[in-house]
Amino acid sequence: MLIYDRQGRFSPLRAATLALCCAPALWLGWGLANDTLGPKTLEALNHETGVWSLRLLLATLAISPLRLITGWNKLITIRRMLGVSTFAYAFAHLVFYIADQKFDLLKVASEIALRFYLTIGFLSLLALGVLAATSFDAAVKRLGAARWNRLHSVVYPLTVLALWHAALQAKLKVSEPTIMAGLFVALMLVRFMRGRVPVNLVTLSALALLMLPLTAAIEYLWYAAATNIPAARVFAANFALALAPRPALVTAMIVLALPLAAIAKRVRSL
Ligand code: HEM
Repeated sequence: MLIYDRQGRFSPLRAATLALCCAPALWLGWGLANDTLGPKTLEALNHETGVWSLRLLLATLAISPLRLITGWNKLITIRRMLGVSTFAYAFAHLVFYIADQKFDLLKVASEIALRFYLTIGFLSLLALGVLAATSFDAAVKRLGAARWNRLHSVVYPLTVLALWHAALQAKLKVSEPTIMAGLFVALMLVRFMRGRVPVNLVTLSALALLMLPLTAAIEYLWYAAATNIPAARVFAANFALALAPRPALVTAMIVLALPLAAIAKRVRSL
């Protein structure tokens, strides 16, 4: 059962994760039942499931870094649930897209083949499907640890594709894809730090600070490549405190959770 650990004991951590994974679906179901999702219901469902899939994907990728920083090994027991939920939301995202196209499968296939942002979204979904299908104990046993790890490292390129897909269709609402891209870069940097530099309170605080210019640079690149808006002014806006929290600041604040996790580890060990 999903809320029990391997020893058959109730696991509050797994129960909380299950609640987190189901909450967006329940909220969308409630919205559908009460007609609060706006006039374009299928578009809203497609949008929300896409966003939640990407959020859960990043949460899945955060497990190993958090485990490294906190030494809390039980975190590994929720990674599979987060990963499979990522796929479930991504699959629902595709189904709502197909429904929005009035189930015209030929049109859907040609749109996926012809529109670049849909093609990379589809590739990302395919890779997610392979990972979800090989997430179960029997598959892990059959593949062997080394091959399973090699196969599952495809999660990094598939995340890049999913982020690219989200950014390409974001038009001018690029804040959330920028924050997600910033968080992905931060998680990759923690992986890179492992074994090269100490992963501790000081280096993780430096990382959170570094995410300010790095995320601003991601946003700069997006505006420079995809719009006529002066990208340098958007970059500067990230450091103007009078403006609403910009993606760079939001990303840095979220990444601050990592040094805080390092403090929590110290406190626990005391
Ligand atoms: C066959 C595969 C896919 C199709 C056909 C598809 C289709 C779409 C469409 C039509 C949109 C635009 C929605 C809007 O206007 O708000 C969109 C946006 C999005 N998709 Fe996908 N998608 C696919 C795969 C994925 C995957 C695998 C992920 C994540 C893991 C994903 C995440 C997103 C996100 C985050 C957005 C942005 C929502 C926003 O900020 O407006 N998609 N997708």
